[in-house]
Amino acid sequence: MTGWMDGQRALVVGGGSGIGRAVVAAFLSEGAQVAVLERDNAKADLLAAELPGVPVVVGDATIPADNRAAVRGAVRHFGGLDVLVSCVGIFDFYRGLADLDDDEIDDAFDEIFAVNVKSNLHAVKAALPELRKTRGSVILTESTSAYYPGRGGVLYVSSKHAVRGLVTALAHELAPDIRVNAVAPGGTMNTDLRGPTALGLRDKRLNDTPGREAELAGRVPLGIAMSGMDHAWSYVYLASRRVRGVTGDVAHSDGGIRVR
Ligand SMILES: NC(=O)c1ccc[n+]([C@@H]2O[C@H](COP(=O)([O-])OP(=O)(O)OC[C@H]3O[C@@H](n4cnc5c(N)ncnc54)[C@H](O)[C@@H]3O)[C@@H](O)[C@H]2O)c1
Repeated sequence: MTGWMDGQRALVVGGGSGIGRAVVAAFLSEGAQVAVLERDNAKADLLAAELPGVPVVVGDATIPADNRAAVRGAVRHFGGLDVLVSCVGIFDFYRGLADLDDDEIDDAFDEIFAVNVKSNLHAVKAALPELRKTRGSVILTESTSAYYPGRGGVLYVSSKHAVRGLVTALAHELAPDIRVNAVAPGGTMNTDLRGPTALGLRDKRLNDTPGREAELAGRVPLGIAMSGMDHAWSYVYLASRRVRGVTGDVAHSDGGIRVR
């Protein structure tokens, strides 16, 4: 790929680590200008040091005003916005309904659905006026958990199914002005994916699971443990104006798990 995003201006929500950070790198290498909204101060500082040309707004994607500030920042720097990507998310570490105490469910549900689902509504809403002007596109992040059980607990799997619904509903609502698609990554190496504070899992990292690389490679037909960069080219493909006829669609970057 070269020049697949020449002249495009993108905002990556959750671009400070993992898949979002790889999307930032891939978009830049394909000719885009990129801005980031990221909640973690340390990741924002690191990004600003590594990529001085990338404006970073520190904020929470579940808060409308923070999304609006990030969109304003991108437009101030680049003069407009063509692409919105969201890569925010938290994981529930396979907690089943029977593992959740009655008094944990409300807070865990609210936190996981706020980050994994509601943040997408606020990010898209904030970007809408700019994306309509440019007939731009949106790419949300699903998961294999948007299609199958077993790779997350009940709240993660149901929240990712909801993201799948957002893609369909928004692609329908926003046509013909804005394309809306998703990438559904499989299990991924070298990310910082963490759990909800409500379950005491904010400091637990999925990537620290012992034997994760071999386990990831062993679970998919292609026998590979994928990294953020392996998924990032799917975001490039969907964001490119070369694929102007694709909306409401999903790139399954999952090592072929569906054909097993
Ligand atoms: N890691 C995997 O195995 C895997 C597999 C399938 C899907 N996914 C999905 O991919 C996406 C990215 O996950 P990742 O593994 O790269 O994790 P990650 O934690 O490395 O990346 C998420 C980024 O979003 C930021 N973030 C989280 N909540 C935020 C908020 N409210 N506001 C602003 N920024 C916020 C985090 O600080 C982080 O920089 C998530 O939606 C996740 O569910 C991950």
